Amino acid sequence: QKQGDKIKVGFSQAMTTDDWRKQMNSSIKIEASLRPEVDLKISDANNNINKQIEDIERFISNKVDVIVVSPIQSKPLTAVVEKSIKAGIPVLVVDRKIEGENYTAYLGADNIEIGRIAARYIISHSKGSGKIIEITGANGSSPAYERSLGFSQIINESKLFKIENTIQGDWEGESVKEPLKALLLRNPNVEYIFAHNDRMALSAWETAKTVGLENKIKFIGVDGLNTVNGGIELVKSGVLDGTILYPTGGNEALKLALKMYNKEPISKNNILNTIVIDQNNAEIIENQMDKVDQQQLVIETQQGAIKVQEKEYASQNNLVRLLSFF
Ligand code: FRU
Repeated sequence: QKQGDKIKVGFSQAMTTDDWRKQMNSSIKIEASLRPEVDLKISDANNNINKQIEDIERFISNKVDVIVVSPIQSKPLTAVVEKSIKAGIPVLVVDRKIEGENYTAYLGADNIEIGRIAARYIISHSKGSGKIIEITGANGSSPAYERSLGFSQIINESKLFKIENTIQGDWEGESVKEPLKALLLRNPNVEYIFAHNDRMALSAWETAKTVGLENKIKFIGVDGLNTVNGGIELVKSGVLDGTILYPTGGNEALKLALKMYNKEPISKNNILNTIVIDQNNAEIIENQMDKVDQQQLVIETQQGAIKVQEKEYASQNNLVRLLSFF
């Protein structure tokens, strides 16, 4: 098959510094490797909005067949996605959204629902003061906005619970430390901390530890990765009380992108399932995820073996051609 015949999928990834995005990339790559007709290019914007806009501009001028994008922030990426749609290239928005509806489809878990689930978890498990600190993701990114929306909706409905303070984080652990320490020193009477992801939840726990409050406060995160220091491990070791699973959807993204390319009917909103992970099910979920990881490893190993055989076949073919000259 000639390179030119392939279906070109351009994936504009927001950054690849954390394990969640690394998993997203590896699962979209595995899906692509199973389909020889697909030419997948991943551009990493390094959390730089201008770079992400340029990456998408490049996909448009290279006339890729489909664009997949996980926008760093909603507003600044809206125009370039619209430009792609105008140029006739369908766009699948994953995980984080742009503004408005001018894209082909969205794929990701329901982030408003994730906020609500976290709030309901706290309400049904609380035995203390009902005082909560919320730590949000980066300003301007849709999961941060939506997780807050769902969370505050449910907490505000209940009279016994209160979001005492909100810390504006940026998805990374470092952003949590100083403001949380200052807050805890002023007001140590906090029962729960809900952080918009597990990296910030871990950082919140570490910060609470520096002031001796890590066993008094309960911590809830989001993501639930099955990695070293991932949510599942943090739940099992008792650092987190719970985490809400936020699937990356890497493989589903490629499947949907191909449906879009083939002009098959798809829903505009494609919602991935979520679940609370806590002491009750962390082990079971870990086992399930281990199995999936093992299968992925088998696939990767087989893909590697096939590539080696292809190379050998090609070089033997060359030899045959060479010999046929004589
Ligand atoms: C990964 C991440 C996740 C979070 C998601 C929100 O980069 O920060 O931890 O759930 O992005 O878009």
